[in-house]
Amino acid sequence: MHPMLIIAVKAARRAGHIISRASLDISQLTVSTKQQSDYVTEVDRAAETAIVEVLREAYPSHAILAEESGASGPESDYQWIIDPLDGTTNFIHGFPQYAISIALAHKGILNHAVIYDTNRNELFTASKGGGAFLNDKRIRVSKRAKLAESLIGTGFPYRSFTHIDTYLAIFKELTQKTSGLRRPGAASLDLAYVAAGRLDGFWEFGLSPWDMAAGALLIAEAGGLVGDLSGESDYLATGNIIAGNPKVFSQLLQLLTPHLTAQLKA
Ligand code: IPD
Ligand code: CA
Ligand code: CA
Repeated sequence: MHPMLIIAVKAARRAGHIISRASLDISQLTVSTKQQSDYVTEVDRAAETAIVEVLREAYPSHAILAEESGASGPESDYQWIIDPLDGTTNFIHGFPQYAISIALAHKGILNHAVIYDTNRNELFTASKGGGAFLNDKRIRVSKRAKLAESLIGTGFPYRSFTHIDTYLAIFKELTQKTSGLRRPGAASLDLAYVAAGRLDGFWEFGLSPWDMAAGALLIAEAGGLVGDLSGESDYLATGNIIAGNPKVFSQLLQLLTPHLTAQLKA
């Protein structure tokens, strides 16, 4: 394992410990609302502090972009992109689908990724050019070639409803043209599941870089494709993402395209 990935795993496990301990008594959580349907707990913050501490100690010259504290650290070609607890709504409800997501980009290129599911003790890791792994086993995207036989993940709009009609039209069509749709509630894990072949494809609008960065590298290293709504690579900037095994990716892109408004295509 690359030394930078080892540090990222150490940080994820540190945060995992905090999250697992807190999950034992969710009645004690103090929940604040950032905006409508957007929650944060002291656990998100404590997990982030722990991750940042580990990364800063190892790499004081690197920049950091973390969900709860934003951009910090010196200017650097290296940037850590962190979601300390992806799936906070699930966590608050005791619904066991959430994860820690940490990625390292160098000059904007994703180099290392960790997604850690504390509930199942599943550690997804990838380094650029080195393949993707679940615990110690190599993972690959599924081989399913037909959309009709595919299981597709997504995230329902829950905060901004600007694209709700577009979303519902896509939802209606995909419901009829796939084996099933799933909305587990943690985008990073949805992407990790595409990498592991548990989902054949995924799409969501309006995500943040920390939801996608680690999962996107995992998928690429597992032989899949990740793109924005034009099939290009601007998903971290636009927040709109399509992912899948290569065959399902192109079918998803083709199916979504006629639905997209000018705003979503931009
Ligand atoms: C959320 C989850 C969810 C996705 C949301 C994200 P958070 O992250 O990834 O699946 O639909 O858009 O904001 O807020 O729980 O870290
Ligand atoms: Ca998130
Ligand atoms: Ca989060």
